[in-house]
Amino acid sequence: MRIFLSAATALMLILPTLAAAEPVRYQSDIKPIFDKHCVECHSGWFPDGGLRLNSLENIHEGGKQGRAVIAGQPEKGWLINLVRTKSGRYSKMPPGPAQLSEQEIQLIQQWIADGAR
Ligand code: HEC
Repeated sequence: MRIFLSAATALMLILPTLAAAEPVRYQSDIKPIFDKHCVECHSGWFPDGGLRLNSLENIHEGGKQGRAVIAGQPEKGWLINLVRTKSGRYSKMPPGPAQLSEQEIQLIQQWIADGAR
């Protein structure tokens, strides 16, 4: 039992912050990523793909193909699949050679899993 407890304690100490109790939030964690990599094309009167990524409300409105983010179900919305798409594939986001870092993608995925708020 004691061995189990200390192993559990060690695990808690080494688990990344993502797994901590604090949920990932749009305003503090996600907005900076979208502002830097997405908003230049996904905002304004005629946003690409009909999708605005410049506010939480607009994100949940979705784009031409429907909802890009489905709260609690990261794998079901467009957004996470498109940012996971590798360079050269159709509709990869952002387009071109740039790619979000694995850490940024993980954060977005966790945010959606946490309810996308
Ligand atoms: C250089 C401009 C540009 C940037 C930067 C960009 N996108 Fe896009 N995005 C597009 C275009 C163009 C489309 C429409 C593609 C199509 O219809 O085939 C699109 C479509 C999408 C769609 C599908 C919307 C729909 O309903 O059809 C999603 C989701 C998306 N982008 C997410 C993102 C995310 C997340 C980022 C940032 C990581 C990003 N995009 C960055 C140009 C861009």
